[in-house]
This record gives sequence, structure tokens and C-alpha cells, in this order.
Amino acid sequence: MDISVVGSGYVGTTIAACFADFGHEVTAVDIDEAIVSEINNGKAPIHEPGLSGLISEHAEGRLMATTEYTDIQDTEVTFLALPTPANEDGSIDTSIIETGAERVGEVLASTDSHTVVVKSTVVPGTTQEVLAPKIKSEAGEAIDIGMNPEFLREGTAVQDFLEPDKVVFGTENRSARIELQKVFRPLIDEVNPAVVKTGISEAEMIKYANNAFLASKISLINDIGNICKEFNIDAYEVADAIGLDNRIEAKFLRSGVGWGGSCFPKDVRAIINAASEQGYEPEMLQSAVNINELQPRRLVELLDKHVQLDGARIAVLGLAFKPGTDDIRNSRAIPVIDLLQQQGADPVGYDPVAVGNMTEQFPEIEYTRSAEEALTGADGAVVVTDWDEFATLTTEFSKMNQPVIVDGRRIIEPDDIAEEDAVYEGLTW
Ligand code: UDX
Repeated sequence: MDISVVGSGYVGTTIAACFADFGHEVTAVDIDEAIVSEINNGKAPIHEPGLSGLISEHAEGRLMATTEYTDIQDTEVTFLALPTPANEDGSIDTSIIETGAERVGEVLASTDSHTVVVKSTVVPGTTQEVLAPKIKSEAGEAIDIGMNPEFLREGTAVQDFLEPDKVVFGTENRSARIELQKVFRPLIDEVNPAVVKTGISEAEMIKYANNAFLASKISLINDIGNICKEFNIDAYEVADAIGLDNRIEAKFLRSGVGWGGSCFPKDVRAIINAASEQGYEPEMLQSAVNINELQPRRLVELLDKHVQLDGARIAVLGLAFKPGTDDIRNSRAIPVIDLLQQQGADPVGYDPVAVGNMTEQFPEIEYTRSAEEALTGADGAVVVTDWDEFATLTTEFSKMNQPVIVDGRRIIEPDDIAEEDAVYEGLTW
């Protein structure tokens, strides 16, 4: 098939490269010339394992990037993968995708048939009430509309796209559904995911429900973990046992300092905001957010029990929102550093890849090039990201002025800490 993907961000570039890999002819449209030329030169504009390999394989063949919206006229299906950033109040800002929808509508003015599929995360009603009228403004009923949400994780986006548990086709009619099935046919035949055929608003909601559920699952295990800590119980032993019940499932039961990233915080707030606009206040989801805000405070309070924080040098191990990325968006390290500063402590940050990004957020604090350097002379240490390298720290703790370690991710093995009188506290164990 001939497919266009509008927007070459992390979702757009991943799906464009994967569609080309399915055997489709793909046109990637982006207003940023630098991104367009990077793709055309066979390079990935973002870092995702496996992506640059796919782009370099297909750039001179089935994958072409352009700044020209008119190029989508020669294709059959267009995916809109434009950003929907958060407003201050948590609602989503649809201005970028609205402009994209308008431009797609203009260039398809004289088309006989075309399917436009919204890939971006938008609150229920947006596709049909806001975007479809713009897309159909000139070509009208010649255009079919679909909504196909994405469940990619940062760091495993290509693998998640190529081996999904499910694909969701939200459509307004049969022909849009058939087109989506044709696009995904190679994947459906090869990996046999569940295919969910549903309405457009349902598809929009499935994306939010998916992320809200996962974020809440973590907050629930954090809530249980906080109870465990009060009773001196190891929450991980409890989680391992309840995870054996296949109605609960073992994944996403790692308790600790909470969830961050570009999706969970934004999507949970957006759906709370959208519900509230309809007159419903989702208490459970609000609690999930509240618990997530609580965890960094509990981490710092736990440290405060052992360390006089005012004037203390505190090593903050891990700055990225999760291992495997330099992304610090909504990283729990941000509130941790804030809280330490409020207590008069001097946080010293270390992360294998995210120091550059965190320096923009907190230019005033010290950063080091190794965990060992951060620990040297420190009066306490907190672990915020579960990077594997922290699991191998042993003698480095002996360099601390006062070996107090509060682990927010259960990555340090207390028995491996070489220093005999070290204090090790797990946030929920
Ligand atoms: C998430 C969803 O998984 C993905 O489907 C969606 O499309 C985008 O949002 P991502 O943000 O890349 O993906 O990260 P993910 O690996 O899901 O982790 C999110 C956060 O939850 C991280 O901060 C992680 O540390 C935390 N987490 C995860 C826990 O605290 N405990 C767990 O058990 C799992």
C-alpha cells in the first residue's frame, strides 16, 4: 500500500519505518527539514533500539521523507502522528494536530477516496468532533476516518510495534476498517495479535484506559508497599505472591518511587481533566496521581530519619525516568531533587546518560561522571532509577562520609554493600 505518516516524532518515525518494513511504500511528512533530511539519509532522528537499522534499510527504497503535505495525495492512507502536549491544567493542547488535520484536508480536496487515521493520543470525541470536520472540510465524504492508538514504550518502541498484544481499529465505517486491516495485514498474519474492531471514541478511550490502568496498578502496589513498610514487611515478596494469581499478573508490580515519563503522567491527568469537564471526578485515578506524588516525599522522609539533611551532600543515583533512556520528563528524580533542596541538602546527581538533560532542569546542582564519584564524601544516597550498574555497587559505598542508602527501586543488594555499618532502607521493603 501507499501510506503517509504525518509527524516524524517518536511514534511517527517508528511506525513509518515499521510500515516500510511490512512492504508498504511510506511517505513521512514533517515540517522540520533537519528531520526529513536525516530520514532520507538513512538515519533515525530519535534514539530507539532497532530504528536506525530499519531506516537505513528502507530510506533509499520504500521510505521517503518530505516537508510537502501535497505528497500524501499519491497515497491511500494517512496516519496523523502529531504531538498533543499537555496544557497547564492537564488538558491536551490539540492545536498542532488540528493544524495538521487542516493541511491534510486541504491537500485531499480533490481526492476520490482516502482514509485518515488518528494515531496521536486524543481524548474521546476529539477525532470525530474536532479533527474529522477539518479533514473532511474540502473532500467531504470521500474521506474515511479511523483512530488507531499506539502502546509503544520508550526504549522498546520498534519491538512493541512489531510484536503487539493487540491492535485497535476504531473506525466509523466498513471501508476504513478494511483499509486498516490491509495496512496491518503483514503483522496480523505473522504475529497474530488480538484485533480489536471498535468505534472511534472507544479507540480513543482504550488508549487512556490502558495507560490509566497501568499507572494505577503501580500506584496501587506503591500504596500496598507503603503499608508493608509500616509493618516491616517486604512488599516484593507480597507482590511476587499476588502476581501468581493470573487475574492480577506479575508485571507492573514493582513498587518504589513511582512512575514518570512522557505518557503516564500526561495521559492520566488528561483523562481526569476530560472526565471532570463532563461532570465526573475520577477518584481512583486522582488517588493514583496523589500516591505517585507521595512516593518521592516518602523517600526523602526516610532519608531524613537517618541523615541531618540541612547542609548534607546527598548522592542522587539515577536521573532518567526509567533505565535505558536519557528522558527525564516527569522523572521522579525531579521532585526528589526539589525536596532535598527544600530541606537544605546539596543533591549531587549521577546518571549514565541523562545528566545533560537534568542539567537544563537543575543547572545549579553538581553532577558527576560516575556513581562512585557521587558517593564519595556523601552523607546519604538515594536510588531513583533502576539502572543495572547500580546493582554492582559494593565497595563504592565505603567512600561515603556516612553510608546511608535509601533505595527507591530495589536495585541495590544490601548484602553486597561492603561497608559493615551501612544503613540500607528500601522504600517499600
Ligand atoms: C508507557 C506505556 O508502557 C506504553 O504502553 C505507553 O504507550 C507509553 O507509556 P513508557 O512511558 O515508555 O511507556 O514507560 P514504562 O516502561 O511503561 O514505565 C513507566 C514508568 O513506570 C517508569 O517511570 C517506570 O520506572 C515505572 N514503573 C514501571 C514502576 O514504577 N513499576 C513498575 O512495575 C513498572
